[in-house]
Amino acid sequence: MLTTHLLDVLYFIAALSFVIGLKMLSHPDSARRGNILAAIGMGLAVLGTLFFHPSASNDVVEDDRMLKLMLLYSALAIGGFIGWRAAYKVKMTSMPQMVSLFNGLGGGCAALLAVAEMKLQYAGVHGHPEAAGLILVLFTLFFGSVSLTGSLLAFAKLEDLVKDSAITLPRHTIFNLGLLAIILGLIGYTTWGAGDAGMTWGLILFGVALVYGFSFVAPIGGADMPVVISVLNSCTGLTAAAAGIIYDNLIMLVGGILVGASGSILTVLMCKAMNRSLANVLIGSFGGGGTSAAAGGGDQTIREISLTDTAVLLNYSSSVVIVPGYGLAVAQAQKICKELDSLLEANGVDVKYAIHPVAGRMPGHMNVLMAEADVPYTKLFDLEEANDALKKADVAIIIGANDVVNPAALDDPGSPIYGMPVLEVWESKTVIVMKRSMKAGYAGIENPLFFHAKTKMLFGDAKDTLQKLVAEVKAL
Ligand code: TAP
Repeated sequence: MLTTHLLDVLYFIAALSFVIGLKMLSHPDSARRGNILAAIGMGLAVLGTLFFHPSASNDVVEDDRMLKLMLLYSALAIGGFIGWRAAYKVKMTSMPQMVSLFNGLGGGCAALLAVAEMKLQYAGVHGHPEAAGLILVLFTLFFGSVSLTGSLLAFAKLEDLVKDSAITLPRHTIFNLGLLAIILGLIGYTTWGAGDAGMTWGLILFGVALVYGFSFVAPIGGADMPVVISVLNSCTGLTAAAAGIIYDNLIMLVGGILVGASGSILTVLMCKAMNRSLANVLIGSFGGGGTSAAAGGGDQTIREISLTDTAVLLNYSSSVVIVPGYGLAVAQAQKICKELDSLLEANGVDVKYAIHPVAGRMPGHMNVLMAEADVPYTKLFDLEEANDALKKADVAIIIGANDVVNPAALDDPGSPIYGMPVLEVWESKTVIVMKRSMKAGYAGIENPLFFHAKTKMLFGDAKDTLQKLVAEVKAL
């Protein structure tokens, strides 16, 4: 009895730490502490369950108890070690891949729990299986499976292991709608019509849901990946919450609801950032691959600028807007970028940063990078403010960004990213683009900005170029 109360108290503390930790994640200054707080809460919940849950009591008599405990502790040790090593070693630019992988494993766990629970229900352990209980189990099974295979495919796409065109059927959306109809039919039949054969039909549903998860993510690609990742994230949260109801486990329910709700909010924010409806992202399935209709036409002259000319231009401007992108993160050039900013500020130049919501490869990627380099938060301007600032700027300097400054998003209806709000860098007096080549960005499309009359290209690795630029400015 005492242990049950103790467990309730631990779960309560864990739930509080999740909520407070989540709140703290919303600001770079407190995010690290928030993460640690939530991790401590999760640790308490796991330890509490291991030692104080009624099913862990020594009074429970089972033939294979020792074996089960050994399996449990081995799984915890192996999983904990792999998770810790992976999180420790992962590069910042590979975070979305890792989030996808961990998210998929969470969904897979919930799906396996649902299979185990379904087996118990059909074995009559909780009496005759009831429709409400079965639906909850099948819901968990469906979303958990979709999250597993969908996230694994998202991981493979982000790692560039598969190409969208290799796994997309000509009428993929219709195929997916067909699969969804089969799944709904299977859920109905397993719940109300299959009787004693329910377990077999449940396993068929498991298989079809795994295929659906893969097929659901297959046609979505390119610039739409951030949205699909947050949709899968909220799927896993909902699945964990449903598993919490099945197992009558409060902390699973609370944790699942928090993940589900925050994933859903993030999905809405991402869709807003890209000016798309969720249905359009998920069913419209345009994503990557295509090239802008305007890509081939118009003036294709590339104008280059030297390091010395760039240094002079920047140093004698009154306002400069820096646009960081994925390339800056890859080059790990944030600190040298801040050094250039400080030098320019010391010479009387007003320097601001324009942060696009999907710049980089994860939500808040650029904010985190800039916080790492001690750039004050007040210098980071979001899309709307940045577009106002760009109208008054002498120079917009783009460091390793591409899709988020592509004018085709505004003026080329044939472009795959048409409709996505972008940073209107061409509104400033001069645009300098720093990148290594003329290669496309994540969406795989050409960028007419590089041929714009105001644009000058400064080719090279972002870190190396910035280091040389800092030396040039110092020498002026
Ligand atoms: P991208 O469009 O991916 O462009 C990055 C550019 O950086 C590339 O064109 C590349 O050109 C350049 N680059 C790479 N390494 C470099 C280096 N070492 N030095 C200098 N330049 C380098 O980046 P973006 O503008 O930040 O846009 C983000 C894209 O990712 C969007 O399409 C977005 O939808 C997608 N996405 C975002 C997220 C989130 S949530 N942020 C998640 C998944 C996908 P070179 O190869 O020529 O150097």
